[in-house]
Amino acid sequence: MKEKIIKIKQEFQKGLNEIKDVLQLDELENRFFSRRSGELTEAMNNLKKLTGEARKEMGKLANQVKNELQEMITNKRQELEHGRAYGLAQAEAIDVTQPKLPKEVRGHLHPMTLVNNDLEDLFTSMGFMILDGPELESVYYAFEGLNIPATHPARENMDTFYIKDHVDWCLRPHTSSVQVRAMQKYGAPLRAVVPGRCFRNEATDAAHEHTFYQLEGLVIDHEISISHLIGTMKELLKGVLKREVEVRLRPGYFPFVEPGFELDMKCLVCGGVGCGACKHSGWVETLPCGLVHPKVIEAGGLDSKDWTGFAFGLGSMRLAMQKYGIEDIRHFHGGNLSFLQQF
Ligand code: FA5
Repeated sequence: MKEKIIKIKQEFQKGLNEIKDVLQLDELENRFFSRRSGELTEAMNNLKKLTGEARKEMGKLANQVKNELQEMITNKRQELEHGRAYGLAQAEAIDVTQPKLPKEVRGHLHPMTLVNNDLEDLFTSMGFMILDGPELESVYYAFEGLNIPATHPARENMDTFYIKDHVDWCLRPHTSSVQVRAMQKYGAPLRAVVPGRCFRNEATDAAHEHTFYQLEGLVIDHEISISHLIGTMKELLKGVLKREVEVRLRPGYFPFVEPGFELDMKCLVCGGVGCGACKHSGWVETLPCGLVHPKVIEAGGLDSKDWTGFAFGLGSMRLAMQKYGIEDIRHFHGGNLSFLQQF
């Protein structure tokens, strides 16, 4: 047992020396400390098989190693984050001697930023944290932690960009990748939203982009029910669109929720008659959602017998289209000034 613990420490140090960014550090932390299959967690669980003096002695050693490794992770994280902040500060240094720009060319916020700001204000007022997560994501957080194993057909629905020579990395196809990260970091109870960019290898049309925004929502608490979910969805739509909208709820399948739903809204661009924005159906798929699957709660390191939750993945670019009556999603990244100057 002693050799095993010392080997774990050596392996950890070897891994740590090779770390170049926070994503790799998260993976290393997960490898050793994950509640279900972390190498150190498993070694500590095995201590239960020992008795008497041996158990006491090994317990002491394992705890000491655990504290040392955690300290190394904290220090490395600070080092990486400090390095990044310093680089950014240098790149963004402002020349205060520059003359002020004339009013007409000073610029303004992009419509997507306006909607994201509204969403953040709304959810902060309901007691949610605003979280961020990596766009270059590990396949574990994008899929496996969400109960989507490699062979699962659900992976094909999200035409994911994988990274050449890094089989375990992808550009996140959805913000759901932050669910497990959030639970691992903040535990429960938890209320969080994650606005952010997602990427899919899509053929673009009026309703689809290869780079688009979602806003993930995650609530973990005791006895969470579908009523909590629906109440929050209604507040969300009313709060951003500032009017009552007609919605419909259909069953929807996502391996990380059970039961799962698709919440569609009557298209405000065409009034439900049919247009490019609603794929000529009169309804816009905006808000898939459901109750968090127990396996995802367990992947987050929580006991699914104690904790329940709901999650949603708002297509926030589509919501922005509805709010401002934008008939084609490609305007957002088109860079056409006559479009942008309307906001
Ligand atoms: C998901 O991405 C799930 N992660 C959502 C989820 C979260 C379900 C939590 C349950 C619980 P879906 O692939 O349907 O699901 O995408 C969610 C929304 O993102 C869609 O309703 C749509 O509004 C938006 N969306 C998806 N693909 C695109 C695209 N290519 N362009 C623009 N918006 C898109």
